[in-house]
Amino acid sequence: MNQSSVAVASAPAVAAPSAVAVSLRQVNKSFGSGNTYLPVLKDINLEVRRGELLLLVGPSGCGKTTLLSVMAGILDVDQGVVDVFGIRVDQLSQSRKTRFRQENIGFIFQQFNLIPTLTATENVAVPLIIAGKPYQAALEQARHYLTLVGLGERLEHFPTQLSGGQQQRVAIARALVAEPRLVVCDEPTAALDSATGQLVMEMFREVALSPERAIVIVTHDNRIFPYGDRIAEMLDGRIVDVHDNPNRMR
Ligand SMILES: Nc1ncnc2c1ncn2[C@@H]1O[C@H](COP(=O)(O)OP(=O)(O)O)[C@@H](O)[C@H]1O
Ligand SMILES: [Mg+2]
Repeated sequence: MNQSSVAVASAPAVAAPSAVAVSLRQVNKSFGSGNTYLPVLKDINLEVRRGELLLLVGPSGCGKTTLLSVMAGILDVDQGVVDVFGIRVDQLSQSRKTRFRQENIGFIFQQFNLIPTLTATENVAVPLIIAGKPYQAALEQARHYLTLVGLGERLEHFPTQLSGGQQQRVAIARALVAEPRLVVCDEPTAALDSATGQLVMEMFREVALSPERAIVIVTHDNRIFPYGDRIAEMLDGRIVDVHDNPNRMR
């Protein structure tokens, strides 16, 4: 018997290490202390595979946004292992964690957090400029990504001159522009019309298809479900089930 068949036989539910994008092991996270102490993530074990688009679902308040923030290195855990593409995020100093986020993570949160004094193009270029890309080249790549999300006609608009759905698309372009290995999205299509939502999901799909990358999306949106490879279900701070998506688009 060769090694790979041994691994498959002994651990069918666990992907080989090289196939894992994110590995969370016994992760616990709470907020507050004393009277306000609130455990929010409870013994979380979860693997996100390379090249997959994982959907994270569960009722409001169960800890989905907190879990995304932990994966993205935005929130520290109390206990447990947070491994993202082989990087032990839970062991990084704050300054290294900032760099880890810049180099590896694209996040799309419910608040778009666009900079009001910058145009759409400048907003999208920010991650590239921070990464040291020359200014004009950064703007060029930003325009390319804005065009991909259907905002080619709004490049020089300021956030206040854009609709909510358009602002969200700017935030999506900004999250993808530096081609991060892990993209985490908190209900990314809520403000988008159907056609745009579909466009955005096709882009996510393409990103997730790369074996060097992965996407995790929190969603309640039925329109998103066909794009997910697997579904992780959360309830009251715990992952209660992870399964293949029966409604996955082939
Ligand atoms: N910064 C915070 N301080 C205190 N409690 C928080 C904080 N962020 C989230 N919580 C609480 O943690 C729980 C999980 O929140 P969250 O991860 O936002 O859930 P979801 O995204 O599933 O709705 C909720 O009870 C929420 O009130
Ligand atoms: Mg949330």
